[in-house]
Amino acid sequence: MNSFPQDFWWGAATAAYQFEGAWNEDGKGESIWDRFSHTPGKIENGDTGDVACDHYHRWREDIELMKYYGLKAYRFSINWPRVMPTGRGPINQAGLDFYSRLIDALCAADIEPFITLYHWDLPQALQAEGGWSQRATAQVFADYSAAMVDRFGDRVQYWTTFNEPWVIAFLGYRDGQHAPGDRSEKLALQVAHHVLVAHGLAAQALRAARSPIDVGIVLNLSSGETLHDTPIERAAADREWQMNARWFLDPLFRAQYPAAMWNAYGSIVPIVQPGDLELIAQPLDYLGVNYYTRTLYDGDRHAARQPGTEYTEMGWVVHAPGLRRLLNKLHAEYPVPPIVIAENGAAFKDEVSADGRIHDPRRVNYLREHITQVQHAIDDGVPVRGYFVWSLMDNFEWSYGYSKRFGITYVDYATQRRIVKDSGEWYRQVIVRNGVD
Ligand code: FCB
Repeated sequence: MNSFPQDFWWGAATAAYQFEGAWNEDGKGESIWDRFSHTPGKIENGDTGDVACDHYHRWREDIELMKYYGLKAYRFSINWPRVMPTGRGPINQAGLDFYSRLIDALCAADIEPFITLYHWDLPQALQAEGGWSQRATAQVFADYSAAMVDRFGDRVQYWTTFNEPWVIAFLGYRDGQHAPGDRSEKLALQVAHHVLVAHGLAAQALRAARSPIDVGIVLNLSSGETLHDTPIERAAADREWQMNARWFLDPLFRAQYPAAMWNAYGSIVPIVQPGDLELIAQPLDYLGVNYYTRTLYDGDRHAARQPGTEYTEMGWVVHAPGLRRLLNKLHAEYPVPPIVIAENGAAFKDEVSADGRIHDPRRVNYLREHITQVQHAIDDGVPVRGYFVWSLMDNFEWSYGYSKRFGITYVDYATQRRIVKDSGEWYRQVIVRNGVD
């Protein structure tokens, strides 16, 4: 049984800071993640992304790996200060050349490049001016976006403005777990608004610089769900959906913030200028959805670990049917454009076995279950056009450093040797068959 469209994008995803290394080579500027990871106590084990998977030097080998998997598409991000060391022109030619060669090689391999313009590496020079707390940063981002599409738009059709605005704002500015490490909910809400404004300005700038290209945004979504389906749980789950999903979906698709949540935030709501919401609600050519887990309510709280249920190394519950429900909910509630699953995957404790291989049956199961639910969602009528596994290979997992392995490829960080995991071999077969067995 196999109902994936013939031109379905089977892909894999990475992000620059997690993957490239070469943090200060060839004229690259410092980013807020360089600064954050170099600050003692911020990252588990004192890890940094200085070297990461050394993809900056090993990209040829990594493209061979993508070819081995038979990827139809590859999602990666541009490290902003690598191409613009201080966030604004002039361009750093060496940084630009790196991406240009990568794109050429992808095109030659018939792998569709999906570029993400912002996967969290804000130039530190812009942070020194206040970063996303400043509205002016939105215009600077739009200028950078236009410069990139001007250089690469002849070869790259798919342009994602932001990866996970929720994570940018709330983990970076409310919870302090991500760069730049602030702790203010009010600031986080203002940052979220500025990021959305930046998305709107960039979408306009991208299209003005080169048309027709496809412009999208990637959101991390999980529908709040209930353990006993009580009114209290339903209310808690709905509040979760408003705070985390609708806070971004409503401006993007309805040019408004969700009223109940807006009122609940009271005095800490962001400053919104006239015309902002219309600007944010630019037409989208695709919506990227990152799904890893579900949020379950027991009463008005997040449910404790459920016996007999599987959890990943991140402590995230494995719940594939939530993905189908989420996709259907999106489709029912919003005028969604084509959807791509821009990230889905799981961290497990992987070890190299005596036979030199990495046997990761739990990841195979995880991927199989989730891809099956994507297939169901397509059968339900949801327009899903692609699936990108997170991740092409193990990499720097933000504040967890190298302790969490999400790859379908194992990385031996001491030698930078890449080893295809069982899940990688399995995914390769999925692509050959255009579906799961
Ligand atoms: C997402 C990020 C991605 C990766 C996964 C595990 O929030 O977009 O970079 O770290 O989580």
